Amino acid sequence: MGFRSLLLYFTVATFLKLSLAAPNTRDGVDAANGYDFVDPLIGTRNGGHVFAGATLPFGMAKAVADVTQDNQGGYASNGSPVTGFSHMHDSGTGGASSLANFPIFVHPGCNNDTINGCVFPKSQRSVGVVEGSVSARPGYFTIGLESGIKAEITASNHTALYKFTFSGNATGDAAVDGPLSPLVFVDLTDLPNTRKNGTASVDPETGRMTGTGTFNPSFGFGTYTLHYCADFKGGSIRDTGVFINTRGGSEPKNITVQEDSNSPPIPAGTYMWFKEVEQGGELTARVGLSFISREKACSNAEAEIPDFSFQDTLATAEKAWKEKFSVIEIDAGEPTNSTGAVDMNDLQTIFWSGVYRAMISPQDYTGENPLWESDEPYYDSYYCIWDSFRSIHPFITLVDPYSQTLMIRSLIDIYRHEGWLPDCRMSLCKGWTQGGSNADIVLVDSYLKNITQGVDWDTGYEALIKDAEVEPQVWDYEGRGGLYSWKNLGYIPTDDFDPYGNGLFTRSISRTVEYAYNDFCIAEIAEKLGKDEDYEKYTERSGNWINLYKPDQTSSINGVDTNFTGFLQPKYLNGTFGFQDPNFCSPLNNFDSCYLNPNGHETYEGSSWLYTFFAPHDMASLINTLGGPDMFVSRLDFLHESGLLYVGDEQGFLPIFQYHYAGRPAKSAERVHYYIPSQFNTTTAGIPGNDDSGAMGSFVALAMLGIFPNPGQDVYFITPPFFPSVSITNGMTGNTATINNINFDASYKNIYVQSVKLDGEEYTRNYLTHDFFLNGGTLELTLGPNESTSWGTGDDDVPPSLSTK
Ligand SMILES: *[C@@H]1O[C@H](CO)[C@@H](O)[C@H](O)[C@H]1NC(C)=O
Ligand SMILES: *[C@@H]1O[C@H](CO)[C@@H](O)[C@H](O)[C@H]1NC(C)=O
Ligand SMILES: *[C@@H]1O[C@H](CO)[C@@H](O)[C@H](O)[C@H]1NC(C)=O
Ligand SMILES: *[C@@H]1O[C@H](CO)[C@@H](O)[C@H](O)[C@H]1NC(C)=O
Ligand SMILES: *[C@@H]1O[C@H](CO)[C@@H](O)[C@H](O)[C@H]1NC(C)=O
Ligand SMILES: *[C@@H]1O[C@H](CO)[C@@H](O)[C@H](O)[C@H]1NC(C)=O
Ligand SMILES: *[C@@H]1O[C@H](CO)[C@@H](O)[C@H](O)[C@H]1NC(C)=O
Ligand SMILES: *[C@@H]1O[C@H](CO)[C@@H](O)[C@H](O)[C@H]1NC(C)=O
Ligand SMILES: *[C@@H]1O[C@H](CO)[C@@H](O)[C@H](O)[C@H]1NC(C)=O
Ligand SMILES: *[C@@H]1O[C@H](CO)[C@@H](O)[C@H](O)[C@H]1NC(C)=O
Ligand SMILES: *[C@@H]1O[C@H](CO)[C@@H](O)[C@H](O)[C@H]1NC(C)=O
Repeated sequence: MGFRSLLLYFTVATFLKLSLAAPNTRDGVDAANGYDFVDPLIGTRNGGHVFAGATLPFGMAKAVADVTQDNQGGYASNGSPVTGFSHMHDSGTGGASSLANFPIFVHPGCNNDTINGCVFPKSQRSVGVVEGSVSARPGYFTIGLESGIKAEITASNHTALYKFTFSGNATGDAAVDGPLSPLVFVDLTDLPNTRKNGTASVDPETGRMTGTGTFNPSFGFGTYTLHYCADFKGGSIRDTGVFINTRGGSEPKNITVQEDSNSPPIPAGTYMWFKEVEQGGELTARVGLSFISREKACSNAEAEIPDFSFQDTLATAEKAWKEKFSVIEIDAGEPTNSTGAVDMNDLQTIFWSGVYRAMISPQDYTGENPLWESDEPYYDSYYCIWDSFRSIHPFITLVDPYSQTLMIRSLIDIYRHEGWLPDCRMSLCKGWTQGGSNADIVLVDSYLKNITQGVDWDTGYEALIKDAEVEPQVWDYEGRGGLYSWKNLGYIPTDDFDPYGNGLFTRSISRTVEYAYNDFCIAEIAEKLGKDEDYEKYTERSGNWINLYKPDQTSSINGVDTNFTGFLQPKYLNGTFGFQDPNFCSPLNNFDSCYLNPNGHETYEGSSWLYTFFAPHDMASLINTLGGPDMFVSRLDFLHESGLLYVGDEQGFLPIFQYHYAGRPAKSAERVHYYIPSQFNTTTAGIPGNDDSGAMGSFVALAMLGIFPNPGQDVYFITPPFFPSVSITNGMTGNTATINNINFDASYKNIYVQSVKLDGEEYTRNYLTHDFFLNGGTLELTLGPNESTSWGTGDDDVPPSLSTK
């Protein structure tokens, strides 16, 4: 180390120590809080679809600017222009755009100073984004528009707050140097253009705009009705009125539209025109929301943001986020010279941004559910549980058990009133099921992890048994299909005869392995509840995955034999195997349209190669079936190295850690470092695939903490955290669990655990159980540059499997 860098090193180190010791005076928080590292713009390009705007943790209001392209999350960092500002969104979803109802739009002035000089239709009004003008942090989003308007956005639980500042570059005939006469309107539309009907009013005295619209959900069926209440502050009223299609007029003061032949639905809404607003002047818009009524939308807004204070609302949002983050502590160590290493600050940004994205959804709509009367909490945007069971809910359980408890109660209440647990749900509607009845996994995971306070587990258990036993008439959005065959044949036949219900007759392989795991989870809770018969029954059914295993099935890629034999294959009712190329539906073939389409094949969003690894409850048996630990490890290596696995789809998570079951935890650590940061970085394109409501976010957070779970079981795989030390304080018990890396090396050569001590005692298991987090304690990992031949390698060291229980 040269003299100059030595000096720099000491200066930086001293500064960091000082700032850690004293509260950071910049914004009055502990510098160790993750808030400052979060970048909500990560994942807003290349299909990440992350919501980048302002929201509270799990809040209903999610406000941002909506752009024209790749806009599932509203805003995308792709330079496409802005069509308005809307107040509710989902985050990271695939498929159609979600919500984004009742956008407000602001013109700095109207051409020729006439009402029809202002453009109303969404298809014509979009305005360019000023380059470099966008930035965001939790609870805050800002963007500059080429019309000379700077928008700043914050939010409370059910209310969006916008501050528009007019710069000297406003378009329109309103003089650029003189005062402006801005026009603001609310459009009865949503981003996916699904409005059925709507009605809007403006009060000519106060300028208050209220309205209602009925829309379709973005990945489900049915309709939902939403209400808004918008108030404005910052200028006096020149005129109010309504618009329809391209024209506006000051009479009448309300408007109703019903579904007609226009596509997209005809633009309509209300406007308010302001008298002179000075250059540099501000206009604040407060938009309250409710699924109950317009009155409730207004009272939500009045209660939450009584005085229109942007600063106070933002401060409250910041505080809420900092509280959520405060249960995790990261010690990133002394600054290093970063040679050959990824910058520690970047790694913290990747980590904390992941934590943040995992707390955007599900959304707390408690008190806002018009569908049934209940004192139970109501959460929505379980979007979708096929994605979220794998990392989102285990993560929330770990860092925010209270919220997870409310979510479990809401899932059980949904069962109570809808008759089924959802597999996907958004905007008060049932969403499409992708595979199994995977809410089973979420419920059981929580049950095993002491999410019990106030939870009606009797009803929860009833819901699980119904999934396993009763086939719904239409199983596309609840329950499971093919249950008759499932119970009698032990698999879902590719040519199933199912006269007991109907749904999309695809995915026979992936549904079979998911149903098997769902049944295993039910067996676990049955055992804990002392329901022995159920335990036996579902344990037996959980072994069904092997019924589709065809031992002599080979696999070639581009004509070259992979030299691995034995894969899951489709099976007919008569017991004969069919054929689907084991690498079909993999990224090698662009997934071959293996989605929820009518000809969607036998595996969902993944290949038989991938699904053959899915027996999360009996890895010992799977390893045997596939030829023993060495064969298993080389097969897993091939999966990772051949391009067959895409970590941007959630089924890719578990195979990163399945080496643990073969006594090779070191290989799991290698894989984690292979995917992070190569696939997860600080750029706006920095996540693979859609974030799926925080699935990628929670994956990266758990993986970097070194405790990725096997969801549905009380198992966390130990890999070295990406930081010298990490701690999590349990919100229910108040105890702190700390994991320390000894010999931590920021260039990540020392990623191999050599030995472990748990509270000072030798610990050879390569996994943890949840009691570590409930009771607190210290896990000390001694790291080295080479794989250990002793730690975590023995039969007793690997996580439990059903067949070796
Ligand atoms: C930076 O650290 C590496 C070890 O990670 C060391 O080999 C190298 O000499 C250091 N470089 C400087 C300029 O200090
Ligand atoms: C504005 O006024 C000019 C001249 O009177 C006219 O040519 C033009 O069409 C008007 N533009 C709009 C948008 O009304
Ligand atoms: C005003 O907006 C125009 C159009 O977007 C842009 O080209 C110009 O640079 C802006 N001028 C200023 C001073 O911001
Ligand atoms: C938002 O709602 C949550 C309940 O989900 C509540 O705990 C929190 O205090 C609310 N936040 C604000 C700022 O009102
Ligand atoms: C709007 O449409 C929904 C669904 O089609 C319907 O239930 C509702 O009654 C309609 N509302 C009005 C005001 O027409
Ligand atoms: C619309 O305005 C008319 C006339 O002012 C009024 O009679 C009617 O009740 C209003 N409708 C709504 C839905 O506000
Ligand atoms: C489980 O949670 C309850 C509160 O719901 C708490 O009293 C109990 O101590 C917890 N159990 C453990 C093992 O921490
Ligand atoms: C499989 O084995 C054959 C024969 O040894 C070899 O040519 C081929 O390259 C192997 N396949 C792969 C993917 O390594
Ligand atoms: C089983 O059914 C499939 C599909 O109908 C058929 O192709 C196959 O020949 C049958 N096998 C036997 C043994 O009948
Ligand atoms: C960042 O992550 C994206 C998404 O996984 C990836 O495509 C890109 O190559 C990564 N960029 C860098 C510089 O690592
Ligand atoms: C680690 O393994 C490499 C070979 O893979 C060997 O060259 C090196 O000496 C080993 N290092 C230690 C510390 O055992």
